[in-house]
Amino acid sequence: MQQAVLSVLPEADLSSVLVRPCPDPKFGDYQSAALMALAKARKLNPRQLAASVLAKLQVEAWCEKVEIAGPGFLNFHLSRPAVAKTLQAAARGEHLFFAKTGRPRTVVIDFSSPNVAKPMHVGHIRSTILGDSLARTLRLLGHRVITDNHIGDWGTQFGMLLVGWKRELDPAGLKVDPIAEMERLYKKISAECKDHPATLEFARQELVKLQRGDAENLGIWHEMIALSQVQFDAIYARLGVKFDYTLGESFYNPRLPALVQELADKGIARESEGALAVFFDDLPQLKDSPALIRKSDGGFNYTTTDLATLAHRLETWQPEEIVYVTDGRQQLHFQQLFAVFRKWQSAIGNTDSVACSRLRSRPSAIILAHVWFGSILGEDGKPFKTRSGETVRLADLLDEAEERALKAVTEKNPELPDSQRREIARVVGLGAVKYADLLPNRQSDYVFNWDKMLALNGNTAPYLQYAYTRIQSIFRKGQEAGLISATPSSVPVFPLTSPEELTLAKQLLNFALVLEAAAEEYRPNYICNYLYDLAGHFTRFYEACPVLKAGAAERASRLALCDLAGRVLKQGLDVLGIETLERM
Ligand code: ARG
Repeated sequence: MQQAVLSVLPEADLSSVLVRPCPDPKFGDYQSAALMALAKARKLNPRQLAASVLAKLQVEAWCEKVEIAGPGFLNFHLSRPAVAKTLQAAARGEHLFFAKTGRPRTVVIDFSSPNVAKPMHVGHIRSTILGDSLARTLRLLGHRVITDNHIGDWGTQFGMLLVGWKRELDPAGLKVDPIAEMERLYKKISAECKDHPATLEFARQELVKLQRGDAENLGIWHEMIALSQVQFDAIYARLGVKFDYTLGESFYNPRLPALVQELADKGIARESEGALAVFFDDLPQLKDSPALIRKSDGGFNYTTTDLATLAHRLETWQPEEIVYVTDGRQQLHFQQLFAVFRKWQSAIGNTDSVACSRLRSRPSAIILAHVWFGSILGEDGKPFKTRSGETVRLADLLDEAEERALKAVTEKNPELPDSQRREIARVVGLGAVKYADLLPNRQSDYVFNWDKMLALNGNTAPYLQYAYTRIQSIFRKGQEAGLISATPSSVPVFPLTSPEELTLAKQLLNFALVLEAAAEEYRPNYICNYLYDLAGHFTRFYEACPVLKAGAAERASRLALCDLAGRVLKQGLDVLGIETLERM
């Protein structure tokens, strides 16, 4: 398509010439809407332009026909032999309907990032699951991904925690549930600080001591981090999430004074009521929201740390892209961060920079993306809480998911051994929670509903996992009946004679587009919906077309189609971080 456009309009910007799956299969398999804009910009008749491009198109190897439709769409109808050829290549193991990118990028993904001495709660689940699936998708497509867990291990809360630890610590409680104990200490002291200025002052002093490197306070602080990390690691292990780096906020402390000095020296930050801030007079949406980078008491804050983090990442990994996955309430923070960075970046274009030397070598390449998400709500439409009104702990939530799944599995398959039922429950329960989180548009809030997410029918993980096991059972049955030979025979021809077969095959061909769009727009929900459609097409195919009962040649083709559908389903669930089972 781009070649054809080039020969008709040699000066056209080809990046806008795209072909996408047709919104309605009635009109074709793929569609391009690009010519209308190109025609409009040149005051050409769009249908005439479409006709000229069509005359140059060389897609006979792919399409049985290409039509001009409406005001100048081009609709492409794939030919059966072209679809069959792609399936054959996949059956030979040459690809699984996607290719690694020809232009790999280095992408840093900052996600999960819970806070020390606090339990990971249901709010952290979205960041963890979204971030992990973006990392998996980008990696599958061949990008160099660096995952970095920006743990909240520094800040004013440690003053109160230190007071609590020294005065109120219950060693037995700490042994049983360290997070609960630390949370108790924090709540107690922060409540006390509200009415007792003396406690508040005491907490401030403990914080200053920590900041100055007091040995005792540093020791306690290290212990709090270590105890929290154990909890984080347990959750990550359950979720199958791994980080390349865990560089908490405190890692950047040594860099903060020089960084702030540099921003002041370059005239990017200025004094305001004793504090140092960056003003954005040139940006209408941030005009009234200056970014504070040094408080009036001399302390640094979240933005200062994030600037140092950004500089460190650029110097260390030279990424083309940095992605931050947090909830929507941090939008202003990231707008400010990115805006300060742009000022800084242009200021060091012609001067030497101490704190951020590497920025100069790649001034414009970097993409900074805040991938934000909405809240998880309870049935009442208010933020999701336990019955007693507490925030839901992630560990408890995952336990409940597995328990509920175990109940369902036990009802369905009481004869299975206990260990197997538990393994099924683990995979289904965790899969259900993850999928329910990835399926909605990430920017909308969603209502947490156990019955819905665990249902075997509907757009759920259990439904997709079940579809996968059904495909596996076809192969088991075929083997038992001696219909599938142990040694793989030659690659089948894929006649794709029934419409259901053809539709399923065409859906497989779109896997690459979906993976790329999900990675490009940071939206794993595209993959969810694609897999749901795939499972639906598979069901309709399997209802309409005999597989094991078909004649030998047709059986081989259909079995191979089942196999490819199963592999795409498994791969697609894998990039969502969801496991599959052979039986459930
Ligand atoms: N610790 C923060 C929180 O729990 C999230 C950090 C996100 N990452 C960042 N670079 N600011 O809200």
